[in-house]
Amino acid sequence: MSGICSGRVVVVTGAGRGLGRAHALAFAAEGARVVVNDLGVRLDGEPGGENPAEAVAAEIRAAGGEAVAHGGDIATSAGAASLVRTAVEAYGRLDTLVNNAGFLRDRMLVNLDEDDWDAVLRVHLKGHFLPLKHAAAYWRAEAKSGREPVGRVVNTSSGAGLLGSLGQGNYSAAKAGIVALTLVAAAELDRYGVQVNAIAPAARTRMTERTFAETMSVPATGFDAMAPENVSPLVVWLGSAASAGVSGRVFEIGGGRLSVMEGWHHGPTADKGARWGVEEVGKVALRLLGEAERPGAVYGTGTG
Ligand SMILES: NC(=O)c1ccc[n+]([C@@H]2O[C@H](COP(=O)([O-])OP(=O)(O)OC[C@H]3O[C@@H](n4cnc5c(N)ncnc54)[C@H](O)[C@@H]3O)[C@@H](O)[C@H]2O)c1
Repeated sequence: MSGICSGRVVVVTGAGRGLGRAHALAFAAEGARVVVNDLGVRLDGEPGGENPAEAVAAEIRAAGGEAVAHGGDIATSAGAASLVRTAVEAYGRLDTLVNNAGFLRDRMLVNLDEDDWDAVLRVHLKGHFLPLKHAAAYWRAEAKSGREPVGRVVNTSSGAGLLGSLGQGNYSAAKAGIVALTLVAAAELDRYGVQVNAIAPAARTRMTERTFAETMSVPATGFDAMAPENVSPLVVWLGSAASAGVSGRVFEIGGGRLSVMEGWHHGPTADKGARWGVEEVGKVALRLLGEAERPGAVYGTGTG
């Protein structure tokens, strides 16, 4: 198939369902050869006994595209290494990595068990770091051998990571970490020809059935704003050579709404040139807060 990703080899993690599946199909429709990763776990990360990666790879092949399935756990070094190896062994190269896999264990902080903290941090944050690390090692080797990679990484954050979300302390922390990881990776990998960006998507999947309960219904006619397929065009563009020059950025995307997040930057500042006294620093802090922009409301607080 020809298209904006013709000739490119793309890995999508967690592509057996929801957003990842939509991205994998969209990349294939734009000519990419796709490695469809999914461990097939339940919404809480427990074993699910399914092989959705193979089902999506078969769907792509049935539509005339090229895809292979990978059923490994991306939050292990062995799984992440074999994911990159699968792309290179199946198609001879890797051009784009879309980090997307994950699951939820929502609880208010007072009820959040250490296991639920660890599991969610592990799958999202480590599950981004390890594929990124193995892909980066591949691209560095390519660059050193004189081949000039046009590498692309699309990470998946969330509004929860950007503004915070009630009942999702573990998930919000992981998704905020993914934004910081994106900024560092963009700065470090630029020298190898690799761009790294992140999205904060909104779509109807099993993960959001409860969060977006009021807005989830599928309209009988017209634009289905909550369809995961609405998110994929941006991911495909970021994952293509056409997005040259765009790196270290975070986009919110859902329905027909696309927004560039303006990240942390130094706001109102005072510098005494010496150590502050406690009362004195409090006064200055309050003055600076009065001059500063207020942060967006935490999701779920009803003030957003
Ligand atoms: N749906 C939304 O509105 C929304 C909003 C913000 C962020 N996100 C993020 O988008 C991504 C996709 O979510 P979704 O809504 O499509 O959910 P989903 O549950 O439909 O899909 C996630 C997939 O990841 C797979 N997975 C989980 N752990 C894995 C592992 N260790 N290795 C490989 N695969 C694994 C699951 O089996 C599942 O198929 C997630 O990172 C999620 O946090 C989604």
